[in-house]
Amino acid sequence: MTAREFTNVIVFNHPLIQHKLTYLRDRSTSHRPFRALLYQIAGLMVYEATRSLPVTPVEVETPVERTIGSRLGAKVTVVPVLRAGLGMAEGVLEMMPEARIGHLGLARDERTLEPVVYLKRLPRDLDAGPVLLVDPMLATGGSAVQAIRLLREAGAQDLRMLCLVAAPEGITRLLREHPQVTIYAAAVDRQLNDKGYIIPGLGDAGDRLYGTE
Ligand code: PRP
Ligand code: URA
Repeated sequence: MTAREFTNVIVFNHPLIQHKLTYLRDRSTSHRPFRALLYQIAGLMVYEATRSLPVTPVEVETPVERTIGSRLGAKVTVVPVLRAGLGMAEGVLEMMPEARIGHLGLARDERTLEPVVYLKRLPRDLDAGPVLLVDPMLATGGSAVQAIRLLREAGAQDLRMLCLVAAPEGITRLLREHPQVTIYAAAVDRQLNDKGYIIPGLGDAGDRLYGTE
């Protein structure tokens, strides 16, 4: 599952995820199925991305006897990068409804390809547990690097990034600046084109998700 050329990158080669991702890549998939597929893939990915979450033993009374079970032992925070990250966050929350949500609004400047921050609303105690940053596209890595910088400044320690499609350029930049972060991706694509789009990719994730092309 680990991409051979990168450490700290987990790539999901699961048939269900690849099947759904292929529909997302298809230019004829409109925003309605796109939204549903992104939601479903995020829900499937969260299973692996949360594997090492700390748990606390708790007593539980079954209809037959008392036994010991386990509950999540730390506050988990999910942080979508707006806009497109919102589509993934909903799928993650379906699996982990007790998670808190922080919001980061970042938009990539089309000329410089650098992110502009327009919103930051985060829980105060981000150091209280793992933080799951969600954004479908990791292209140049500028948005992810900026998002993680903001999360670190706000106290986050255990950071995991969940994305759909990553470019090698973005992974290299992100891990150079934040080597402790684990990246979970449904696919690592070939490269970026001269406009900073991932190829083959799936186009502009925010536009495809919200029908704003
Ligand atoms: C997309 C995507 C990432 C960013 C990735 O968002 O959702 O946030 O681009 O590109 P990068 O790795 O080169 O920074 P965009 O800025 O297009 O905003 P949107 O979601 O509002 O469309
Ligand atoms: N942002 C997107 O939405 N898609 C890309 O391919 C690159 C950045």
